[in-house]
Amino acid sequence: MHGDNAQKTKIRQWDFPVRLFHWALVTAIVTAWWTNQEAIINIHELAGYTVLTLVLFRIIWGFVGSSNARFTSFVKGPFTALSYLRKLPKGSEEELAYEGHNPAGGLMVIVLLLLVAVQAFTGLFTSEDTFLFFDGPLVKYVPSGFANTMNYIHHVNINLIYIAVALHVVAAIGYLFLKNENLIGAMITGSRKVPTSIAARFASINFKPAWLGLLIMVMCGAIVAGVITLARAG
Ligand code: HEM
Ligand code: HEM
Repeated sequence: MHGDNAQKTKIRQWDFPVRLFHWALVTAIVTAWWTNQEAIINIHELAGYTVLTLVLFRIIWGFVGSSNARFTSFVKGPFTALSYLRKLPKGSEEELAYEGHNPAGGLMVIVLLLLVAVQAFTGLFTSEDTFLFFDGPLVKYVPSGFANTMNYIHHVNINLIYIAVALHVVAAIGYLFLKNENLIGAMITGSRKVPTSIAARFASINFKPAWLGLLIMVMCGAIVAGVITLARAG
């Protein structure tokens, strides 16, 4: 059976750590974006360290996490992504659904992760020396030319983030209205309704326990906090 008339079954798709990672990342990025000036630069800085923590966690979870969260399961080449995109307009959910990210979405995930990592990393070397007199924690360890380059990237890269996030959100809404697939709901609740004929595909996902993800997240937070504290003290 195809289309809207197909029988649907509720399946579990995303583990708790992936969902926590996603919405915490969105909150941290929006907070950092909102607070990049004046007296609230300290909140900007904290939001930035949260992003660093989350990206570090996601890289580790991409190797040890649930099977559909692993990079090997969703990072495919550009040709696979293109052939997926060619099938997208007419393809049914039976033909197009993946346990994790589809091949085009998977590439986008890598782009998003890289962009937010670059933003947070360059922030460590960014200064504001006309009004706030704020230095990122690693500014004093590098030559001023290098810090200036990082500062420049910090101001330019945010525009790439705007573009990538806009595309990302439009795609998610597009699936909802044009393909009747609620990927957003799945990223919130972890579950999604799919045609019963393909439910078995999702039954093969090997979920890792949430406590393991949370433990890794806390460890990443401790590493980031430790490095920043040492850098500020040094
Ligand atoms: C600052 C803004 C955002 C960033 C940086 C971002 C980043 C990401 C990343 C890195 C992933 C991969 C998740 C993982 O595998 O761990 C992802 C997935 C996803 N995001 Fe976002 N996101 C943002 C905003 C949003 C918003 C506002 C929505 C909802 C409208 C959304 C909907 C989704 C959905 C549905 C997925 C899963 C896609 C799939 O099923 O393959 N994202 N996002
Ligand atoms: C992913 C996390 C981050 C995001 C999204 C972000 C975003 C931004 C944005 C949008 C600006 C203003 C750019 C402009 O005016 O053209 C900015 C400036 C700045 N950021 Fe970040 N940032 C992040 C992380 C960090 C971190 C970790 C630090 C330092 C520890 C930092 C330090 C600064 C400084 C010092 C400025 C200059 C403020 C000014 O010129 O008024 N940022 N950031």
